[in-house]
Amino acid sequence: MPTFQTVRGMRDLVGKEAQTFTNIITKAQETALLFGFKEVFTPHVESLDLLSAKTGDEIRQRMFIFEDLGGRQVALRPEFTASIARLTTSTLKNEPKPLKLFSVGTVYRYDEPQRGRYREFWQSNFELMGADKPEADTEIILLTDKFMQVLGLQGYAFKIGHIGIIKSILSQDGIDEKTQNAVLQRMDKKEYDLALKLVNSEKCQNTLQGLIDLKGKDWRDTLEQINALVSGYEKAKDATKNLADVLTLVTSSSEISLTAEPAFARGLEYYTGMIFEVYIPQLEIALGGGGRYNRLIEAFGGESTPAVGCAHGVDRVAIALQTQNAAYLAKVERDVVVIPVNESVKVDALKIAQLLRSRGVSVEFELMGRKMGKALEDADKRGLDYAVIVGEREFKEGSVVVKDLKKREQVTVLLSELFEKIKS
Ligand code: HAM
Repeated sequence: MPTFQTVRGMRDLVGKEAQTFTNIITKAQETALLFGFKEVFTPHVESLDLLSAKTGDEIRQRMFIFEDLGGRQVALRPEFTASIARLTTSTLKNEPKPLKLFSVGTVYRYDEPQRGRYREFWQSNFELMGADKPEADTEIILLTDKFMQVLGLQGYAFKIGHIGIIKSILSQDGIDEKTQNAVLQRMDKKEYDLALKLVNSEKCQNTLQGLIDLKGKDWRDTLEQINALVSGYEKAKDATKNLADVLTLVTSSSEISLTAEPAFARGLEYYTGMIFEVYIPQLEIALGGGGRYNRLIEAFGGESTPAVGCAHGVDRVAIALQTQNAAYLAKVERDVVVIPVNESVKVDALKIAQLLRSRGVSVEFELMGRKMGKALEDADKRGLDYAVIVGEREFKEGSVVVKDLKKREQVTVLLSELFEKIKS
């Protein structure tokens, strides 16, 4: 038989790596609670029509699509936003607004595998529906900031733009929606020359080129320059004002490090307003991103509902933690191994293990029936702190031997004092 490998782009997560993921997910759940987001679980498989409706070509071409045995065209979710929008227009349609929903799980995209880019990866996803005010955009940015902060990441910064600026310029230039999306896709890939070739007028080209060239540290300066560039475009001026409102709120209520980048675009087509991504200096890949999408829920047959959201890439956050050697990397806490010296005390030893577990101590039991020397050697190798050795004679006297594997000392301890000994 050949040995089997994981499918290309898919990974097993084992030991410390799995624990790191669990830690990150726990922090995402805590962040959701802190900001009042309710957790929801939606299926991994959705109808192809739903998933491909508004995400855009970029993701549509990378979906895992199949026909189920009932002949339905379905796909593995490439993100959460479509599923959450579906939920909002169905089961949750009468829920009071704003509706704030959090999800975490795996999503699937047929991306070219490389470090930080997988075909199955984890996202923690936040959607805030029903609010069109800049404070809603601000909350999404602030919660991403909080998440990065509680994970202990250092030096992270936000890149923030507004899809309405470019879209309004293109609309005023008479460019249809499909071509607008094509321009934005190219800008997302930084293929600016190709993007500009799709534009009709020289004026429009010059304006876009001006926005592409804008690079400044101070967002207020950048916004002033955007305003000057878009002076002939009324709706682009409104979008710039909206971006300024969001950035003013964000910077007045936090210490977030950010740059405003008007030519910044994202791979998804449903955005209508503010968009952002977050990075650490050591990595070129975004740890998370999101933005405002005011027309998606209506496109799915719901009432017109403004919405803003984001997703964080758990796999990439794990790489970031590793890169910065952050304190939040997994520490696998395995405190104690309980070893019976022979068969006659096996049941007593199992009871002691249960007793310690009931008080929250992480306990392993010697399961291989090894001799004491081998069992201790194994415990040592795996970095356990203590071995509780259950011997016949000691047990009859109501005690056990506790070996401190780090200090290489051992003492006889009364069973009634065992927990205190281990926790001290
Ligand atoms: P996205 O930018 O496509 O946005 O994905 C969010 C995050 O998922 C990225 O910033 C990145 O960290 C991670 N990610 C994306 N592709 C991969 C990959 N192939 N391997 C590993 N990690 C990856 C969305 O998915 C939107 N639904 C976010 C959103 C929610 N916008 C509004 N609401």
